[in-house]
Amino acid sequence: MSPFTLTRTLPGDATAAALRSDVLRGLATRPRELPPKWFYDARGSELFDRITRLPAYYPTRAEAEILTTRAAEVAAATGARTLVELGSGSSEKTRHLLRALTGLRAYVPVDVSESALRRAGETILAGHPGLEVHALVADFGHGLLLPATPGPRLLAFLGGTIGNLQPRERAAFLHSARALLEPGDALLLGTDLVKDPGTLVAAYDDPEGVTAAFNKNVLSVLNRELGAGFDPADFDHVARWDPAHEWIEMRLRARHAHTVKIPAVDLAVSFDAGEEMRTEVSAKFRREGVTAELAEAGLEMSHWWTDHAGRFALSLSGPASPPGPAAG
Ligand code: SAH
Ligand code: AVI
Repeated sequence: MSPFTLTRTLPGDATAAALRSDVLRGLATRPRELPPKWFYDARGSELFDRITRLPAYYPTRAEAEILTTRAAEVAAATGARTLVELGSGSSEKTRHLLRALTGLRAYVPVDVSESALRRAGETILAGHPGLEVHALVADFGHGLLLPATPGPRLLAFLGGTIGNLQPRERAAFLHSARALLEPGDALLLGTDLVKDPGTLVAAYDDPEGVTAAFNKNVLSVLNRELGAGFDPADFDHVARWDPAHEWIEMRLRARHAHTVKIPAVDLAVSFDAGEEMRTEVSAKFRREGVTAELAEAGLEMSHWWTDHAGRFALSLSGPASPPGPAAG
């Protein structure tokens, strides 16, 4: 068997149908909103990779620092023979885990971006010729089915991408992640931490304008996939800290009143001057909150590591042991 397989777990038209339904749900009524997974076509994935190298965007470097120093501990604690990575993107930071997990037999990167999966697969196979790579083009939020590969399994969700889910989606995601784990399997979760708003906003509003281009890329996706008539120049990029929810919001703000037609869903969306459309939340976490959300999903945290500056955390958790028989 070829050491690289790529499987689309959704029927051919499922992505188009999901985009239509998200656009109808998010743009037909106010306040306007789009889910962030539509950023990641080939150009969006490339723009995200550029974001990770921006001086102001600290999460990638902070998480890479933790992985560099702690990958051996992750390997010792899990003994993983299969690494499943959700929202794997370029798999760039994953190389620290791949190097440390000496008993690893299979790597299963899961992403909505086929271009990112193909590029990452090539690089990984070149460095790890004995590894089986089963790439899955799939939505990690909906009925993920994993290939039969040897356990123990380590499920990694890096980058702080869990923060891009709304609280209810996050809880549902953690429950479904728990359901994928057998006793002895583990979840490695990256979470960006609450910090001063200046640092946070700067990470999402870089002077180079790369995050603005990434944000506006969703409009190009709607133009291409749905024949929409968005002009990215009609919108400004907005990044704002919401202290009540402890998340960054990315928005697109209409520069002037105008109407955009979206023929594929038979919609005309009128924007007032200054009207904003939310395109992403990026929640920031505290240790107590992560512990509680994991516990709520039946996961028990065993390790919590941060970078030296305390900006970002990686936690390791596993299925919580069932309560023993009551004493007495
Ligand atoms: N893990 C990498 C990439 C993070 S960017 C890192 O830490 O740098 C977020 C990645 O998640 C992108 O590659 C995007 O395509 C993917 N993604 C976003 N929403 C997704 C979804 N619902 N299902 C699967 N992949 C998703
Ligand atoms: C993928 N995710 C964790 C990024 C974040 O920081 O929320 C996406 C991103 N949005 C703007 N910059 C980066």
